[in-house]
Amino acid sequence: MNKTNIDIQSLLREHIRSMTPYSSARDEFEDVSTENIFLDANENPFGTATGEPYNRYPDPYQRAVKAKLSPIKNIPTDHIFLGNGSDEPIDLLFRAFVEPQKENVIILPPTYGMYKVSADLNNVEVREVALTAELDLDVEGILSKVDEHTKIIFVCSPNNPTGGAVSSDKIEQLLTSFDGLVIVDEAYIDFSSQPSFISKLSSYNNLIVLQTFSKAWGMAGLRLGMMFASPEIIKVFNTIKPPYNINQLTQEKALEALDNVDKVEEMVRKLLAERTRLEEELDKMPFVKNRYPSDANFILIQVEAADKMYNELVEKGIVIRNRSKVLLCDQGLRISIGTEEENNKFLAEFSQLG
Ligand SMILES: Cc1ncc(COP(=O)(O)O)c(C=O)c1O
Repeated sequence: MNKTNIDIQSLLREHIRSMTPYSSARDEFEDVSTENIFLDANENPFGTATGEPYNRYPDPYQRAVKAKLSPIKNIPTDHIFLGNGSDEPIDLLFRAFVEPQKENVIILPPTYGMYKVSADLNNVEVREVALTAELDLDVEGILSKVDEHTKIIFVCSPNNPTGGAVSSDKIEQLLTSFDGLVIVDEAYIDFSSQPSFISKLSSYNNLIVLQTFSKAWGMAGLRLGMMFASPEIIKVFNTIKPPYNINQLTQEKALEALDNVDKVEEMVRKLLAERTRLEEELDKMPFVKNRYPSDANFILIQVEAADKMYNELVEKGIVIRNRSKVLLCDQGLRISIGTEEENNKFLAEFSQLG
């Protein structure tokens, strides 16, 4: 039974509602499996400068990738949109739903920086409601910032840069109390003990879940992000996206990766074991004043002199992320989990800095 039934069409920007998408050569003649001679897309008939077969435009809707992804994520293909990283659907959300200089979105700092960058780029007002001291959602505070012009609330869980997942009950409270879209960014979900919100899509038609191939799948360099939402929303995204937003090489590599789920699970297992080991070692260091619980592939700690420690580590050739200027992350350092060897080097150098 649906718990929300928001009128998605009325949330869309007016000109998007009536927009006609670009019709590519591959939209107008889809079947590339035949022996046909293709003289319709102004491609190079001789091949590729490198000798590899990349002279043809890729499938605009990445059908083969979605067909393989669908059973893995347990969601039908018409609920899937693929983007050039998950940063692309974040930007498209603004373009589809939020009227510049008139409507607004809510973000929950400290959080992933691209929500605000995309809002700024699209000239959209951002309302900020800090996470609570326990780094959970302040549902009352969030709802008090909502007005008739609020279109989107961005929830990042597990959250970057703090690492912990927020309470799923509170996300559901937002979904039922807010008449706009709730984005649950699950870039780090594969490292979490919390289940994905994908299973809740059938209950909430205002829910959008973002995931990425950049983290657990180890494909950050190929740029492939996933968005899961109602077919109605996916259709809008297919209308407004650049026609060939996922390149051929990325689609091929994604198909290969999707045959290697075991390898991903093995990497996640190793990473989680290393995360536990790092947590235990960091807890022994007296200058680490606070270590935040992590559901992600990184750990946020609070030290006494973050800038100094950051710079000293860089001098030793070890680069972590200085988050000390970020709200609620005073003197915060964020450490991505590396290989056993990398972590050993980090621990050896870091323990000396105290
Ligand atoms: C929370 C969160 N969402 C999205 C992204 C972007 O991922 P992608 O590489 O798919 O653009 C990141 C990257 O660090 C992230 O931390």
